[in-house]
Amino acid sequence: MISNAIELAVELLKKEDIIGFPTETVYGLAGNIYSEKAIDTIYRTKQRPSFNPLIVHIKQIEDLNKVAIEIPESAKILAKLFWPGPLTLLLKKHASVPDRITAGKPTVAVRIPNHPVALSLLHQLDFPLAAPSANPFSSISPTSAEHVENYFGDKLPMVLDGGVCKAGIESTIVGFHDDEIIIYRLGAISKEEIEKIVGPVSLLNKNENAPEAPGMLSRHYAPKSTLFLTTNVLEQVKLFPNKKIGLLLFKQPEKEQDVACQIILSPSGNLQEATSKLYASLHELDSMQIDIILAERFPDNGLGRTINDRLERASKNR
Ligand code: TXA
Ligand code: MG
Repeated sequence: MISNAIELAVELLKKEDIIGFPTETVYGLAGNIYSEKAIDTIYRTKQRPSFNPLIVHIKQIEDLNKVAIEIPESAKILAKLFWPGPLTLLLKKHASVPDRITAGKPTVAVRIPNHPVALSLLHQLDFPLAAPSANPFSSISPTSAEHVENYFGDKLPMVLDGGVCKAGIESTIVGFHDDEIIIYRLGAISKEEIEKIVGPVSLLNKNENAPEAPGMLSRHYAPKSTLFLTTNVLEQVKLFPNKKIGLLLFKQPEKEQDVACQIILSPSGNLQEATSKLYASLHELDSMQIDIILAERFPDNGLGRTINDRLERASKNR
């Protein structure tokens, strides 16, 4: 059930149920971090392997030391600058954070979402919310309440409606190792934006099953149709003469193609606009029973790097 009744969401979360919950990045499946029942329901509903930890959502920066300890100076600077917002910090966990949340790891992932409904909800609760993206394991993340409802329907007592997610892609996850700052997952804040504040950062290499970032399995964010990522869409179209093709393009193409469906993520070539529409467009292509999606590779900088990361994962063989 999609609803904007925050009071109902509060009531359900207090009695250890889970709900679909809006954030500025993607919708989450939210539950009380201290409730074993809620956490079990999240893992079960999402069919998420138990080795893959959950992000903790807090309402204000003052609450950070309730879930994390020994916070590095650069983490504090980034938090002050980007919170509330799509930045998740990997920090040493506070002893009170249940091991189920962190999948037994010594670190906890934490952020403050920048969404009026999410913040209003968090302010009415006296516990943080654990929330992985509200999609079944390895499928496309949801950027609207309808996407969540389509995935889970009656399995959720409610999806709290917060409209379409503005950023439309997950938060950027940043961790700290001695003096090194590492991006564990590219996301709505670009590498360049973070480097402007804290200097050079490294990207975690895309090693499948990397134990440090259990959620970054290489096949992820995948539509049902086969997706090819290419630098030359026009050439690729010729290779599939008898297929129902969906094109996912960055900008207005020079030449129109005769295909079943063509989605232009940002006619004017704006990376932020393209990012915000990426998942919704993949959901749309999936609903059209396309045989093949040909996606155009983005310029490899700023949010283009984040989009390429997701399209690469979406294109991995099943
Ligand atoms: O934008 C977002 O971050 C959304 C919204 C709902 O906040 N959430 C989200 O959660 O994308 P999820 O679970 O789909 O992705 C979180 C990623 C996973 O890859 C998980 O493995 C990683 O964060 N993660 C969580 N806790 C971690 C930890 N303690 N150490 C390493 N990785 C962690
Ligand atoms: Mg996810």
